[in-house]
Amino acid sequence: MKILLGITGGIAAYRAADLARLLTNRGHTVRCVLTEAGARFITPLTLASLTGEACYGANPDHHEWRPSPSVEHIELARWADVVAVVPATANMLGNTANGLANDLLSTVLLATKAPILWAPAMNTAMWEHPAVRANLERLKAFGHTIVEPAEGMLACGEAGAGKLADIERIADAIRAVGSERLGSLRGKQVLVTAGPTREDLDPVRLLTNRSTGEMGIEIARALRDAGAEVHLILGGDMEAPFGIETMRVRTADAMMAACAELWPKMDGCLAAAAVADQRPQAIAAEKVKKADGPEILELVRTEDILLNLGKQKRVGVGGQWLLGFAAESEHHVEYASAKLAKKKLDAVFVNDIASGKAFGHQDNTLTPVTADGPQPPLGPLPKDQLASALVAWWAGRLGSKA
Ligand code: CTP
Repeated sequence: MKILLGITGGIAAYRAADLARLLTNRGHTVRCVLTEAGARFITPLTLASLTGEACYGANPDHHEWRPSPSVEHIELARWADVVAVVPATANMLGNTANGLANDLLSTVLLATKAPILWAPAMNTAMWEHPAVRANLERLKAFGHTIVEPAEGMLACGEAGAGKLADIERIADAIRAVGSERLGSLRGKQVLVTAGPTREDLDPVRLLTNRSTGEMGIEIARALRDAGAEVHLILGGDMEAPFGIETMRVRTADAMMAACAELWPKMDGCLAAAAVADQRPQAIAAEKVKKADGPEILELVRTEDILLNLGKQKRVGVGGQWLLGFAAESEHHVEYASAKLAKKKLDAVFVNDIASGKAFGHQDNTLTPVTADGPQPPLGPLPKDQLASALVAWWAGRLGSKA
């Protein structure tokens, strides 16, 4: 992706260096445009060194050094797949909200047809000022995306809203708005379950598992980038991805209820959650005291969400699709095929968990199993790339059947 990073004059400008490096390391081409005030906080040399690309400045004198100075703003505006202003000052928000163009960055912001994203950072009182609020509303009405600042200790010594959002979150937002929304999943409604569930025993104890939810979250991101409208039902503590409607749940029952409500309106579902198969028969209202002798925990089965969705799956024209995971240590294809048939799935992604693979390891391999049998494996790849490969594989399969 070609990312034009606009850096305006706030103390958070130094964090744009980390963002530029992060995006470059992830394989994007990043060009920076520094405003005059931005250049007082960070140097063009820093940004050019980190990105391996020229850094464009505000000073018109510098434009004359370029091959075609008069149309530089138009060239940059056309070049970008996405324009991100990080950090965005109240001044630059106000400029663009009101159609003003008085330096290179503000001119590019008016000239570009690429999606625009703003990550503001400023003092809390400025952030809350009605003029800034009004400008933000105008920019949203133009279709621009705002990555809201976080709350925290600000450089001015005050605590409150206005701190530049987390760099990883901004990178995720840039990826979301800059992705080509052309895939065969464009406009599709897709349900994704992710993360562990937690079943309470008493006010201090619970049953859970080692899943973090990372794979499911990466799949939700990859589906979002392929144009799908993703509804994520998430257990665990991981941060919700940018631009995805996320419902947080704790227990298997809560996840089941959330899925049952959404499923009739969905085109498809990918179940990546590590749902507890059992829960305590009763939750003790008070902390359970230890007792002498053997202690037995009474468990009851939870509902199998995927099995239930499979029972209600629409088939035929306008039918729904259902994808699941299987973690197997032996007889991979045989067990996965049985799961496919029992739960009425369109594909099962088999994770080989023999010898401790899958949990906590960066690179992973998934083998899709369909009614046609096992398909060529996806990976080994890091989870984010594996998720993209999985979604591309499924979108391709859907496309070839359409
Ligand atoms: N799943 C679910 N609801 C449950 C349990 C599992 O939706 N209550 C989903 C998971 O999200 C995953 C798939 O079903 O997509 C895993 O199937 P499951 O039969 O639970 O796999 P294993 O845990 O490997 O089962 P088994 O103990 O039968 O090997």
